[in-house]
Amino acid sequence: MLFGKGLFMLPPKDWKRVHTISMRSFGSAQTKGFYPIINTVVMDYIASIKQVVKRKKNLGNISEKLGTMTSQILNCRRNKQNNNRFVLDDIFRPLSLTAICKVAFGLGDGVKIQLIQEHFNGIFSLQKESGKAAILSIIPGYMNLPFGKPLFIRNSIKALHKLSSELVMEYRNSRKSNNITNATTTDTKNLTSTTTTNNKDHIVINEKNTSEEDRKTLLKVLCDAYDANEGSLTDTEVVHNVFSFMAAGMSTTADSLSHMVLELARSKQIMQRLQKDVDEIVRKKKSIDNITWEDIDSCNYLTAVIKESLRLFPSVGGVAPRILTEDCEIDGIFCPKGSYVGIASLVAHRLEFNRVVTNGDGNIFRPERWEEDYIRRQKEGIKFPSNDYSFITFSAGVRPCIGRHMSLMEMKAVLFHLVFNFDLSLPENLEEFEHGDPRKLKFPLLTMKENVDVCISVRVEK
Ligand code: HEM
Repeated sequence: MLFGKGLFMLPPKDWKRVHTISMRSFGSAQTKGFYPIINTVVMDYIASIKQVVKRKKNLGNISEKLGTMTSQILNCRRNKQNNNRFVLDDIFRPLSLTAICKVAFGLGDGVKIQLIQEHFNGIFSLQKESGKAAILSIIPGYMNLPFGKPLFIRNSIKALHKLSSELVMEYRNSRKSNNITNATTTDTKNLTSTTTTNNKDHIVINEKNTSEEDRKTLLKVLCDAYDANEGSLTDTEVVHNVFSFMAAGMSTTADSLSHMVLELARSKQIMQRLQKDVDEIVRKKKSIDNITWEDIDSCNYLTAVIKESLRLFPSVGGVAPRILTEDCEIDGIFCPKGSYVGIASLVAHRLEFNRVVTNGDGNIFRPERWEEDYIRRQKEGIKFPSNDYSFITFSAGVRPCIGRHMSLMEMKAVLFHLVFNFDLSLPENLEEFEHGDPRKLKFPLLTMKENVDVCISVRVEK
């Protein structure tokens, strides 16, 4: 199916090989290569939100060219009469979908990227419908039904695999014609490839003023990944892994951003402090147009806000159970070999035994705890990263999330520009935020329920 030989589907032996090869191109330093594409998508996203919120009220019916970012954002409004009020669960999906499709394939705005987005959106909108669909899909034989949703999903997967196999071949051929082999090109900075094409549907290998390293895509990274002992990935492994990376990265990042924005909209004080820190960085660089990834990454309070939101709302609520290969004792409980052991990060992050939780404040959104933690670690000489498991949103140990650096890059970039350009607030008369659980979580994926809105307005003073 969609993820067949994808990393998170693989048993330990096969996983080790694919993981070792993939990590050759997916460490934290190499991830920087994704920034130019992510930045382009974030800029388009921010400009499109601006375009929508600046529209005069009651002009909501004006149509946009289908498939553009602006038209997708128009569809995220709670109602057509109000251009400022958005459904929080929807508002980051256009960003996340476009970012992951472009990062995966590096395509221009042609027909292929639209097709890929449509298929992917179709598959993932099914996920939103209800828990019922998810339960049905694990009934043996259900996914092979020759009609309805199973048929729709199978056809989409077939089309997606065909498209991406073509792209893998196109890339491999371009590498061959430039006489570049994986074994000699693990350091892509040394590449001299000059293949360029004006066709919007082709992979952009070398754009004007951008080096090969700057235009990194998942597909290229996985095609090029090479380990002296394990070799390279096969074409099928590349295709399946591109899709598993896309699937793993789309809703997780969008849902996490929704939670962050909800928390910022709820707390004026925290948002104002974040805006102050962001403004300061922009002021130093004279203009928002001069901001680089290093500038964004230097904003410590932004990191604290993101980390705090991910602590309270890890979009993957727990680590999949592992099977113990030997007897062991966990916190005084004997666990025999063969037991399934899992960790619910949603719970572990909030309890008193978590080092960053003090005086029972585990359920409170308080980004400052990460600043305090940073100072304490420095004083106590604790090295970074330390494996104390106070933050396991991306899992931990030998098999953590491989896309964590990329996801953090996307979240940081969009939040930085979002709070610089806009004020966020909750709609008036939202009574349910005063009573009961304000977060409105939908289990088991911890996505937000559809009835939570956010108001976005253009910042007047900076
Ligand atoms: C906020 C965003 C994200 C969160 C919270 C998250 C969380 C996680 C967690 C908890 C795991 C471990 C699952 C387990 O073993 O039980 C995981 C694995 C994985 N994630 Fe992420 N992830 C995020 C974004 C991404 C992105 C953007 C990508 C791709 C670019 C990605 C790709 C993967 C892959 C391929 C695995 C499987 C790794 C393996 O089995 O070796 N994730 N993720």
